[in-house]
Amino acid sequence: MANIVVFGSQWGDEGKGKIVDILAENSDAIVRFQGGNNAGHTLVVDGEQCILHLIPSGILHPGKMCMIGNGVVLDPVVFCAELDKLDAKGIDVSAGRMMISKKCHIIMPYHCQMDGARESVKSDSKKIGTTGRGIGPCYEDKMHRCGIRASDFADPALLREKIEKALEEKNVLFKHLYGVDMVDADTVFNEIPPYAERLVPYLGDVSSAIQEANGAVLFEGAQGTHLDIDHGTYPFVTSSNTVTANAAIGSGCSPRDLERIVAIVKAYTTRVGGGPFATELNDADGEYLQKQGHEFGATTGRKRRCGWLDLVVLRESVRLNGPTELAITKLDVLSGLKEIKLCTAYEYKGEQVSYPPQEQNGMAYVTPVYESMPGWDEDITGVRSWDELPENAVKYLKRIEEITGVKVGIVSVGPDRAQTF
Ligand code: GDP
Ligand code: IMO
Ligand code: MG
Repeated sequence: MANIVVFGSQWGDEGKGKIVDILAENSDAIVRFQGGNNAGHTLVVDGEQCILHLIPSGILHPGKMCMIGNGVVLDPVVFCAELDKLDAKGIDVSAGRMMISKKCHIIMPYHCQMDGARESVKSDSKKIGTTGRGIGPCYEDKMHRCGIRASDFADPALLREKIEKALEEKNVLFKHLYGVDMVDADTVFNEIPPYAERLVPYLGDVSSAIQEANGAVLFEGAQGTHLDIDHGTYPFVTSSNTVTANAAIGSGCSPRDLERIVAIVKAYTTRVGGGPFATELNDADGEYLQKQGHEFGATTGRKRRCGWLDLVVLRESVRLNGPTELAITKLDVLSGLKEIKLCTAYEYKGEQVSYPPQEQNGMAYVTPVYESMPGWDEDITGVRSWDELPENAVKYLKRIEEITGVKVGIVSVGPDRAQTF
């Protein structure tokens, strides 16, 4: 079996969790390689829903090794709560089947406070609409080389020193720039022991574990390509690289270990938080997608903005990630629409373009060029093969293949594990 990378091709919430859960069955180990608990990955098995923020979406398959790579930012409070939630469901979350990279960076309470403070002083149009989980400030500290790493939890003296150092600059900002409470290093340090005690048994060398895995390794991306810190709609992005190349960096393996690459594509587009969204619909069709698709954020509960499938965005995702196949999710949500539109190009500065503009906020000034296709009325949530799909649904998928140049390998027609072929 080949190693697999699963990535989001749009602005997140494409259904990565569901597809990872399915692909995990034939994998030996599942690894998260970037992001943190800004992610919300939903799994539904036999009607029972499980939302995961940090722990890899392979956890529901007994015996599969689940690992958190060095590229992830980990909030220990959230991690422990997730362990408890899964444990209460009778799922094995012991250190025998889970590992946290010693190099993984830790989200500290002051990162969450900074996230909130930064957002609060921005005007509405400038707000990123972050998840408020401290993601950006934690990655900032990593790059600034003053971050707390998971292995520091086993070295209290070093940890104490690093917290103090990290707070030196932050407290100046908290007090004088943002006018919020300063953070006391002792208080932060003294809250850690119960979490450290639980975390330390999980610490390990994820890179070696990947090399030593007996079978295929499944790399689980979080967020989406257009939230990538380099390639997304900057500055309305998250603070990590979400593209597939980061699966190698964020877990400690070679790019040559990445074989099968699966792009998760929602059959339409959604976005949660601020930032440009060319095919956004503020009309009855947008409302239809939002309602039919139950489009509410799995992490923050915010209503997701909805729009037509944007193939310009998708084409860019194909060139950045090199998918070997597409997994189309939520096709069932389109049932009942008379007409379905596909954005195939943009008008930008008087020209027709095939890729998103690279200037900051260029995306805010594009006009989508649409192609229209007839919809279908049938409920397809019970469909389990291409042959059973309505003719117009097949045409829609074929058109996506034609424009992206990538075959559809997986189709999802409902949230449940079983609603897939
Ligand atoms: P992720 O962040 O990419 O894992 O996606 P989320 O879990 O945040 O959002 C996807 C939502 O769509 C979840 O509520 C899933 O249960 C649901 N979902 C996934 N695939 C399908 C599908 O094919 N049809 C429908 N109707 N819902 C789906
Ligand atoms: P999954 O893995 C959708 C968005 C936020 C905000 C921006 C920056 O479930 O697909 P951050 O807290 O990361 O600094 O916020 O990114 N965002 C997501 N949107 N799905 C996600 O994850 C997201 N993670 C972050 O809404 O616009
Ligand atoms: Mg999500």
